[in-house]
Amino acid sequence: MAADSQPSTVIEFLDEQAEKSLLRFITCGSVDDGKSTLIGRLLYDSKLIFEDQLDTLRADSKTSGTQGGDIDFALLLDGLEAEREQGITIDVAYRFFATDKRRFIVADTPGHEQYTRNMATGASTAELAVLLVDARNGVLQQTRRHAFLCSLLGVRHLVLAVNKMDLVDYDHDRFRAIEAEFAEFARGLGYDAPISIPISALKGDNVLNPSPEMTWYRGPTLMGHLEQVEPRADLSERAFRLPVQWVNRPDHTFRGFAGTVTRGTIRPGDPIAVLPSGKTSTVARIVTMDGDLDRAVPGQAVTLTLADEIDISRGDILCRPEERPGVADQFEAKLVWMDDKSLMPQRPYLMKIGGISAGVQVTRIKHTVNVNTLEKRAARHLDLNEVGVVTLKLDRAIPFDPYMDDRHTGGFVIIDRLTNNTVGAGMIDFSLRRSSNIHWQAIDVNKEAHAQQKNQVPRMLWFTGLSGSGKSTIANLVEKKLFALGKHTYMLDGDNVRHGLNQDLGFTAEDRVENIRRVAEVGKLMVEAGLIVLVSFISPFRAERRLARDLLEDGEFIEVFIDTPVDVCAERDPKGLYKKARAGEIKNFTGIDSPYEVPEVPELHIETNDLDAEAAADKIVAYLLDH
Ligand code: ADX
Repeated sequence: MAADSQPSTVIEFLDEQAEKSLLRFITCGSVDDGKSTLIGRLLYDSKLIFEDQLDTLRADSKTSGTQGGDIDFALLLDGLEAEREQGITIDVAYRFFATDKRRFIVADTPGHEQYTRNMATGASTAELAVLLVDARNGVLQQTRRHAFLCSLLGVRHLVLAVNKMDLVDYDHDRFRAIEAEFAEFARGLGYDAPISIPISALKGDNVLNPSPEMTWYRGPTLMGHLEQVEPRADLSERAFRLPVQWVNRPDHTFRGFAGTVTRGTIRPGDPIAVLPSGKTSTVARIVTMDGDLDRAVPGQAVTLTLADEIDISRGDILCRPEERPGVADQFEAKLVWMDDKSLMPQRPYLMKIGGISAGVQVTRIKHTVNVNTLEKRAARHLDLNEVGVVTLKLDRAIPFDPYMDDRHTGGFVIIDRLTNNTVGAGMIDFSLRRSSNIHWQAIDVNKEAHAQQKNQVPRMLWFTGLSGSGKSTIANLVEKKLFALGKHTYMLDGDNVRHGLNQDLGFTAEDRVENIRRVAEVGKLMVEAGLIVLVSFISPFRAERRLARDLLEDGEFIEVFIDTPVDVCAERDPKGLYKKARAGEIKNFTGIDSPYEVPEVPELHIETNDLDAEAAADKIVAYLLDH
């Protein structure tokens, strides 16, 4: 196999990768199916292993210094961008190899149930998936799951490699049966012409060379198929997109917008639009470390300067004026959940999409999809490795494309706000337009006016603690003292609010999330009305207490942790509930069989072992008057 003429720079090299045919694919299956053997054979038999070229590339990178001496494979493996930024290690091995006709990047991922996240990462950049099965076992649940997940992640081509044909005596009927079963279930998944190939990775049958043992098979060998499958419509011919990674402004004379072209091409002089603002201008220069370019193509990291001075920030998308992405703050999306802690609707998370980081809530789980059977099911939360169709609400409008059009501007990850872990990966299907008709009404008699009239500073005192910890008793005393001081107050108490506004909610985790969300919103309205609001709810989860805090301005939210050991609460048992809970008559009882997440840095920590209710109330009132 002939070595190609060596590219002289990394950029040129990547350019070549983008222009020449490069196929990214993923292998799915387990070690038992012969996956390592197959990959080994593909790599070994194709001889021209990419490693050699990488050495040149490595040397290049040092001299031209575009990536500080390191090869930036990230440019090639630009999958779940934000995930990498989070520094999450994902167990996906990428290997490079080439033949005369084509270059390949194969993502090799562990195949077990608990590794959905690895699969998702590998598949998010792949155009083709090779599903491996053992001819003796045929199509398994796992095969179906992989086929489904790959289709979800936009993989367009699917190959079923029926391995170990040597162990079934190269039996044509056996192959035919597996092929038929596979064709049947693949039909519903939207792949382009899925195909089955009978192979023996161990003996080399139909991997690179046609098998003398299976003359009944007329189709391509696996490598033959990998070499000929049509890659996705040439990225450079599609609508131009450059998500802005950062604004480069070394001094007042230069202002450039840096990022990687995800698709399309652009030249100096071309008109350009910036989303979400919609402002337009013209490309002045395309700047790189190696000098200006007269054209930028997909995969290139460039800095654009514009003819006009317009406001652009990280996360904005540069495009052509007639090919704009959508802009919206509500979406329908598919979501793969990757965290032990279930996804809760209404809980605030962060979403990273392109260079943007925005607050997000899942407003509804429309259904989950059983990845083994493709059955849809109603669900109130998403567990580890579950896939759901959900609606999302962001805290602001962002530019986007449907994932099926563009994995860069339509794929996202979800980050837990408290732990900063990546907990989900998703794909935007379409935007929901319902939000655009609701506007904020400007109100003249505002919070300041209300507060002034009442001659006080509005606050939210948030009492949290176990049932029976003394929250309501202490909150009551605080309110009486404030009232006596002429303050305007209102008390929101769990037991009371649950009789009215929240009478539809129980004590499952998702109901508690919604319970607290509503109370936080109502409490906020009362703060807007100039009141000092006392909220007394168990509010067992940090995430929702944080949500309440974030609804208010700095200093308005005062978290009061009423800290009473659970044994003491159970001893007091004012409503006889602990007794019932311990007898198993009440389920999901906080402190018994439902968790309470202790506040990390409450403004006030009241330990009721040390302080009686009266003294506690005095302490809280004193704090309030001081602040
Ligand atoms: S929260 O967890 O959603 O914040 P909330 O404060 O509204 O709870 O309601 C707690 C009150 O409901 C308790 O004081 C108790 O009287 C009653 N209750 C009934 N069932 C439960 C339960 N399973 N867990 C906790 N409290 C319960």
